[in-house]
Amino acid sequence: MRLCFAPCAVLLLLTACGPSSSVDEGLGVVGELDTSEAGITAFVRQGLYREWLAEPAPRKSVNSHGDKVRVFFNPMLAQSMEAGNATHPVGSITVKELFESDGKTVRGHALDVKVSEGSGKNTWVFYEGFGPDYDDNYYGRGHDTCHGCHAANGTDYVATPLPR
Ligand code: HEC
Repeated sequence: MRLCFAPCAVLLLLTACGPSSSVDEGLGVVGELDTSEAGITAFVRQGLYREWLAEPAPRKSVNSHGDKVRVFFNPMLAQSMEAGNATHPVGSITVKELFESDGKTVRGHALDVKVSEGSGKNTWVFYEGFGPDYDDNYYGRGHDTCHGCHAANGTDYVATPLPR
């Protein structure tokens, strides 16, 4: 009991004080990703994407997204980009680590996940959030803050070229 008490109390506290605004587009698990806001936050916190194909090192952001960034591509997206597809398959994911200006400390993440076939902003869920709390995130299918710039700068909303 005593061993359990502290973690349980912390969990309760987190639940009580946690973000009340956690949103869910109701798309469930796509590929291996729980596409709710809470699911994406958990995913980027876990850092499993670090095994994916990535830009070799943090580099200066071209446009928006702060100072230094590093982009990761899941195997499905990498393959589709390699093939030169105009639209990517459902389950394609790209993650962007957002760094402090030191280029070392990760301060947040952006993530785009393809949730339906075809083209158009509503085929993607867009997410961007900052630690340590990730409690004031951009999240949503075809999110207004994200889709315009990505449509203009990318192929099927993906703007970063595949690292070779
Ligand atoms: C002002 C334009 C602009 C806005 C607004 C914008 N982005 Fe981006 N984003 C870019 C550009 C340009 C790149 C690629 C070049 C770079 O990394 O600097 C990029 C890269 C990314 C990447 C890496 C994969 C890719 O597409 O290249 C993710 C993920 C991402 N953005 C997510 C988001 C999310 C989520 C939002 C909304 C909260 C958003 N972006 C808003 C311009 C923008």
